[in-house]
Amino acid sequence: MKILGIESSCDETAAAIVEDGHRLLSNVVHSQIDIHAVYGGVVPEVAARSHIEVINPVIQKALSDAAVTWDDIDAIAVTYAPGLIGSLLVGTLAARTLALTKNKPLYPIHHVEAHVYANFIDEQAEHLTLTLPKSQPRFPLLALIVSGGHSQLVLFHDHGDYQLLGQTQDDAVGEAFDKVAKIIGLPYPGGPSIAQAALKGSPTEYSLPKAKMKGAYDFSFSGLKTAVLRAVQREVCVDTTFPSSELAGLLNDVQRANFAASFQRTAIETLIDKTEQAFRDHSPASVVIAGGVAANAELRTLLSKRLPIPVEYAPMALCTDNAAMIAALGYYQAQQLPSTPVEDILVIPSLSMPKTAWRPIKS
Ligand code: KG4
Ligand code: ZN
Repeated sequence: MKILGIESSCDETAAAIVEDGHRLLSNVVHSQIDIHAVYGGVVPEVAARSHIEVINPVIQKALSDAAVTWDDIDAIAVTYAPGLIGSLLVGTLAARTLALTKNKPLYPIHHVEAHVYANFIDEQAEHLTLTLPKSQPRFPLLALIVSGGHSQLVLFHDHGDYQLLGQTQDDAVGEAFDKVAKIIGLPYPGGPSIAQAALKGSPTEYSLPKAKMKGAYDFSFSGLKTAVLRAVQREVCVDTTFPSSELAGLLNDVQRANFAASFQRTAIETLIDKTEQAFRDHSPASVVIAGGVAANAELRTLLSKRLPIPVEYAPMALCTDNAAMIAALGYYQAQQLPSTPVEDILVIPSLSMPKTAWRPIKS
C-alpha cells in the first residue's frame, strides 16, 4: 500500500511516499528557514504564503522522485493538528482537493504522534541514501518526543494504543533551545546552532539547575531558560534591568560556546534522567526518540550510554519536520480505521496528542 503524506504544520512544506508503513520511496522537504531567519523566528503569515507557493510542486516532486503516478497511490495522509492555523489550512486543503479529484481515501494525522513513526522507516528506494535503522522498533515502545512545541514521554503498547506518561509543564525543550540561542546571540533555529557552538564549549563551565517535578516523568524548561539569562547577566556584570536583547553583544565567542554547552548538557541530562526512569519502571522492548531535538547528536550519544538496551535512531532528516512520518502513521491508521470524508477534515492548531488510543477496541 503506497501512501502520499503531506505536512505543512509549521515552516516546512513536505510531501513523501511511503510503502507499507516502512519503505521510503520519496521524501521532499522545502524548508523556509532562510525566509524566517531574518526575523529570528517563524512569522505565521509569511509561512502560510510560502506553503501556498510551493505545495503543488513539492507534491509533484514526491510523485516523480518515487517514479509513481496517481494510479499507484492508495491513500493520502495529511497533518491536521497541531500547528499554525494558516500553515495547516494549506496542507489540508491541498490534501482534501486531491483526495476528491483523484478519488483517494484520506487520513488526518496528528503531527506529534507522527514524529514517532519516523522510527518505523527501515527501508528506502535505491535513489535515497539515508542511514536508516536496521529494523523497526518493537512494542511495548517507549518514545521520548522532543520538538519545538512538545516534550513528552509516551508508552506505546501497539499502533494507536498508547499512554502519556509525562510531559512538559511549561516550555518545550526545542523552544528552550530556540530562546536560549536568542539570549546568547546564536542564529535561528536555536537547536542546531547551540549544538554547533557547544562543540567548542565546556558543559561544566556554568552550573545550571535541573527542575524538580511532582510527576516522575514530567519536565519543565522555563526555569532553565531563566537560569541561563541570569547567569549571562552575572557573567557580563549587568543587572536584571539591562535589556535582554542587548546581552548577546557583550558575550565573547568563548563564553557563548560555554553557555551553549552548559545549557545543552543540562537540558539533555534532564531528558535522559526521565527516560531512564521510565525505562526502569516500564521495561519497554524498544526506546525511540522523535521530533526536531532528536536530531541532537549529544542526546543520541548520552542516551545510548545510559540505557541497557541498544537504541537505533532515525536519520536526522526524518527527525525534523517531514512528510514521510505522516505517510508512515497513515499506513497504520489505514489498517484499522475507516478513512475520513474530506468535508470532515478540520484543522486544530492547539490539539495535544490525544491521551487515549485511536485504535478501535477489539471485542
Ligand atoms: O519537530 P520540529 O522540526 O518542529 C516541531 O514540530 O516543533 O522541531 C523543531 C525544534 C526546534 O526547536 C529546533 O531548534 C529543534 O527542534 N532542533 C534541535 C536540533 N535540530 C532541531 N534541537 C537540538 N539539537 C538539534 N540538533
Ligand atoms: Zn514537528
